Amino acid sequence: MSNTVATDLLPLPTPQTHHVGGHIQYLATTDSTNIRALEACADGHVFVAECQTAGRGRHGKQWHSIPHVGLWFSICLTAPLPGAGFAAALSVRDAVADTLPLSIRWPNDLYAEQRKVCGILTEQRGNWLALGIGINVNHIREDFPTTLRHRAGSLAMATGHQWDRGRLLKTVLECLDPLVDRLRRGEHDTVRDEWVAACDIIGKHIRRGGISGKVAAVDDDGALLVSTRMGMQRVTSGDIVVLGV
Ligand code: BTN
Repeated sequence: MSNTVATDLLPLPTPQTHHVGGHIQYLATTDSTNIRALEACADGHVFVAECQTAGRGRHGKQWHSIPHVGLWFSICLTAPLPGAGFAAALSVRDAVADTLPLSIRWPNDLYAEQRKVCGILTEQRGNWLALGIGINVNHIREDFPTTLRHRAGSLAMATGHQWDRGRLLKTVLECLDPLVDRLRRGEHDTVRDEWVAACDIIGKHIRRGGISGKVAAVDDDGALLVSTRMGMQRVTSGDIVVLGV
């Protein structure tokens, strides 16, 4: 149980948007908001949960989603929508930029200082996409499992003050909306370029398992194209070590 002062998620302020958040469904508890979004088949609908009992992370990992301190939500969008994951990361970064600079790290995480504060999971089923965003908002260190405490953080830990989670949801959706508009107009290259610039990975030497080389590009799926002595190699997932330029 958190020692922090719980801030209410409700009432949810209405975002000024065209593509996302026209309908926002609040759930006191659910297994995963991504599952709700995939089932909904309703473009732009948002599902936000106070608590997820089976929050999903990348690669089948569990996403730790305790109540009252986090912001766990998913947006249902028509698929395909290349670049949706890039747009999600940029929208979270932009939503808090006035107060807190966040860095985007490959494959698609947001960090405050050296601690992960946000993860993004995009899942597609048929013609529908769930764009899932998990933000550690008002967590204190003890809210995380001991195995995560050395690398997980929250917006509150980084700024020293509590955040209004409902207002944050509204701001993220308002930052996401113009990006989704650009993606739907076919401008996914420019959205990806913005993400790549923010990620600051091009030209860096990286190592992952047996692969070692210089990052030449990021493709539309977010995979790294790494120039190695064996030729160009594609790195799609896993922990990378950034060795520098
Ligand atoms: C990761 O970094 O591994 C991705 C984490 C994504 C977590 C969010 S929380 C809202 C949405 N629902 C889920 O079950 N997962 C995503």
